[in-house]
Amino acid sequence: MGKTIAIIGGAFGDEGKGKIVDFLTEKADIVARATGGNNAGHTVVVGDEKFKFNLIPSGIVHKNKLNICGNGMVIYPPKIIEEIEDLEKRGYNVSNKNLILSSSAHVITEKQVELDKKTGGKVGTTGRGIGPCYMAKIERTGLRMNEFIKQDSKEAKRLKPLVKDTYVILNEALEAGKNILVEGAQGTLLDIDHGTYPFVTSSNPTAGGACTGLGIGPTKITEVIAIVKAYTTRVGRGPFPTEQGTDEDTMNENIDVELTEEDIKKANEGDEYSTGLVLRKRGAEYGTTTGRARRTGWFDAVIVNYARRINGLTSIVVTKLDCFSDFKKIKLCVAYKIDGKKTENFPLTNLEKAEPIYEEMPGWCCDISEVKKFEELPKEVKAYVKRVEELAGVPISILSVGPRRDQTFILRKDLLF
Ligand code: GDP
Ligand code: IMO
Ligand code: MG
Repeated sequence: MGKTIAIIGGAFGDEGKGKIVDFLTEKADIVARATGGNNAGHTVVVGDEKFKFNLIPSGIVHKNKLNICGNGMVIYPPKIIEEIEDLEKRGYNVSNKNLILSSSAHVITEKQVELDKKTGGKVGTTGRGIGPCYMAKIERTGLRMNEFIKQDSKEAKRLKPLVKDTYVILNEALEAGKNILVEGAQGTLLDIDHGTYPFVTSSNPTAGGACTGLGIGPTKITEVIAIVKAYTTRVGRGPFPTEQGTDEDTMNENIDVELTEEDIKKANEGDEYSTGLVLRKRGAEYGTTTGRARRTGWFDAVIVNYARRINGLTSIVVTKLDCFSDFKKIKLCVAYKIDGKKTENFPLTNLEKAEPIYEEMPGWCCDISEVKKFEELPKEVKAYVKRVEELAGVPISILSVGPRRDQTFILRKDLLF
């Protein structure tokens, strides 16, 4: 029997889904993206090479694997063609042997991009036409891939050989006992139904979206794994309970600002903005898609528990543990106080009123990015990981201490392929 593993963003996106999808692809037969478009930016590091994917699934860097862009995606033809050409320049052939696009995926038009650029400011969208394209889909006036490829244009001709009914390929693979890896985009709190509306994207990046966005049934999904950072980040606007420093400082920060000893000292004295700055620099928290500085905050167990319930998680992957190396103390949010009342349930309204209740743990103040065995990690790291696992209420299947493949520890093989 094959397995189907859905990889989901545990919070506001950019948790390291691309890295973990690449890591798990070795044992997958098909890698499929179900939702979103080129608002996503997924980074994969292979040796000295770095890839940034917006539309093509991260499995493409493994030769001989089939990658699918599912019916739930919104595809901007110039962008996917650019990604294909970039890959080909780097020696990776792309054809219908390794990339198939769903005939019923929707196509983002220039007009939709322009409209998003004009109207997306309130939410802080990526300006890629995502909202307007999904609006057209729901309004039943959208352009689907099967119609797009009939047009007389260079782009249509280029994509035509890649377009098929992908639900057939996926269900035949399931029936043949193959392993399928679903590459989620965005994150649970950016979900149009379950996120921090209206500061969300226009699709369902949660586990349900994996089924509707690919045409596979919920009973076929074996594992649902959320990728969670050891801290939290958010790009764009919207409430963010454990945020360090102010919204404005972060949004206006110059990407070239260098981290100084003084910043680290201030962070360890409790200065909020410096704490955020240290994490931003250590974690290279600048958008893959837009270059915008990401807002940073402490680990938030209320969010992770919400993601556990909404997605029916079977495990989590914790990434970016290495980014804490400068901190003497690390905070974890275990509950919120709203209007004087403590709650562990994520509130669907009044999130902006939530005051985080923190626990504090000792840091490890050393570089753990080159540690090769889990047993050799400092005891403070193990204690932090154990506490995160307790708070999350599901096992941690993988830990990540750097962007590369060899900076990854498998903790629960039985919960993977
Ligand atoms: P995605 O959108 O969820 O795929 O995440 P992004 O690629 O947008 O952002 C994650 C960033 O963190 C990328 O630059 C990754 O290379 C990097 N990354 C992933 N895991 C780790 C980790 O454990 N440690 C560090 N330092 N970087 C990581
Ligand atoms: P990955 O897959 C982080 C955010 C935008 C904005 C909101 C709506 O790389 O994790 P949209 O353009 O989708 O209408 O913007 O959602 N957003 C993301 N933030 N990572 C992403 O994708 C995102 N995709 C959308 O910043 O706040
Ligand atoms: Mg990203």
